Amino acid sequence: MPRKLVVANWKMHGSLASNQQLLEAYIQTLKSLENVDVVVCVPYPYLAQAQSLLASSSIAWGAQNVSKDTLGAYTGEVSALMLRDFGAKYVIIGHSERATAYCESDENVATKFMQAKAHGLIPILCVGETLIEREAGMMEMVVAKQLDTIIQMYGAALFANAVIAYEPIWAIGSGLAATPDQAQSMHEFIRNRIASHDEDAANSLKILYGGSVNPQNAVQLFVMQNINGGLIGRCSLNAQEFEGICRAAN
Ligand code: PGA
Repeated sequence: MPRKLVVANWKMHGSLASNQQLLEAYIQTLKSLENVDVVVCVPYPYLAQAQSLLASSSIAWGAQNVSKDTLGAYTGEVSALMLRDFGAKYVIIGHSERATAYCESDENVATKFMQAKAHGLIPILCVGETLIEREAGMMEMVVAKQLDTIIQMYGAALFANAVIAYEPIWAIGSGLAATPDQAQSMHEFIRNRIASHDEDAANSLKILYGGSVNPQNAVQLFVMQNINGGLIGRCSLNAQEFEGICRAAN
């Protein structure tokens, strides 16, 4: 079984003081876990702090968004090269909280994905359906459209060594995670969809599950064949809970 990947998504939480405590606790509690890759995606202003505290640890860091442009007159945007400047290795792309609150289109998300890859970052592409879409049995159609936009614009080879996070919108922050079978079935669908265009890319891809993962449900989720790890929101803000999840992946 390939190594699992666990990604902390801090969202818009933290301060210099509280981040220092949390990152030091991560380093301390996770240092004995040698069979899992751990990443923390911090708000932009804290990238320098993550870099200085984590540089000598095995924990990687990244951002939660990136500009679709390379450089220029784009007030308020942050480019992939700037993230690289701070040692970021990963970037979350197309999180549903951004898609809904900031009207991100699938095309924008696709361009950001390409930007990340073009500048040596590993994109973590978030896909997933709403509750209404799931109840209507449309979840695969919705996720397929999110993937196909990238495939049509830039080709399926762009997925080589990338990360996809299946995050059903109804499971995010709700305390109601998808069942292992629901997640497994969607992860299989995602891998097959990419494989139908580019088998090598599909095999090199990690597919994470995100949405109310906690130390109790992590084991059942992570034993599923197609679940390569997790994207963790709320429980990543508590070092003990995050450790429990990383331990399950380890
Ligand atoms: P949650 O968030 O773990 O708090 O559900 C996951 C996410 O939004 O990435």
